[in-house]
Amino acid sequence: MAYRNLEIAKRGAVRTITVNRPDKLNALNRETLNELTLAFSQAAQDDAVRVVVLTGAGEKAFVAGADISEMNGYTPVQAQGFSRAGQRLMSLVERLGKPVIARIQGFALGGGMELAMCCHLRVASEKAKFGQPEINLGLIPGFGGTQRLLRLAGRGAALELCLLGAPIGAQRAYELGVVTRVVAPELLDDTVNAMADQLAAAAPLAAAGILDAVLQGGETSIDQGLEFETQAFALAFATEDMREGTTAFLEKRKAEFKGR
Ligand code: COA
Repeated sequence: MAYRNLEIAKRGAVRTITVNRPDKLNALNRETLNELTLAFSQAAQDDAVRVVVLTGAGEKAFVAGADISEMNGYTPVQAQGFSRAGQRLMSLVERLGKPVIARIQGFALGGGMELAMCCHLRVASEKAKFGQPEINLGLIPGFGGTQRLLRLAGRGAALELCLLGAPIGAQRAYELGVVTRVVAPELLDDTVNAMADQLAAAAPLAAAGILDAVLQGGETSIDQGLEFETQAFALAFATEDMREGTTAFLEKRKAEFKGR
């Protein structure tokens, strides 16, 4: 289907979803949230897709936040619906069952930082800027920012970023664990493409097991997390990919994973 606010590209098993409102710095209005939800649902259901890259159009912004002009007129009930729609999207991305790479080239503010944080791998250009500036608008983060930042970077960093509302650079975001890689702007695409290619060739059911174990484990006790890991580990032995991966190693050849 044709999207009004997104561009979708397919390269082998890599699906790239680009938020495409560069004149508004890719701000998330309600329609864009709905389109992203649809695009990610389709990527989840399509077995040919093994990895998703999420980015924003243009040099200036990944996503500069929720759309302030739309929020300006919201009633509390509309705001509740908007927050829930944003949170549903972020949870869908986080629980997609396939790796999602955020390619962050510029501003990732408010809802943009929240969108980046629900992705599994976050690669930032040295020029990227992160922040939760909602307090400057008399607001608080509403797409999971208080919760995901707390879990990624700890209580101190979550409170400092949300209370002071000031942007931080990519290097600081890396130190806080908000991004997993920082690269020179001219290396951003090569780095993301290499990562995506590697994941596209990886065993998809093993990737899903890792995502599940890490994400579930972050929300539970160590004993429950370890038990979850054991079950997911054992389940891998039911896959053809596990036989192929271990056999290929023993036969000194490259494994060909089929997702079965
Ligand atoms: N919602 C709606 N529109 C936004 C937006 C947002 N979150 N962020 C940027 N835009 C729009 C601007 O209104 C402007 O539109 P216009 O040309 O029709 O006036 C356009 O994008 C370009 O932004 P501009 O502010 O002119 O760019 P800049 O380089 O001067 O500043 C920022 C860049 C990111 C510092 C600034 O746009 C900003 O502070 N944005 C809001 C960030 C924010 O608070 N996000 C959290 C929202 S909850």
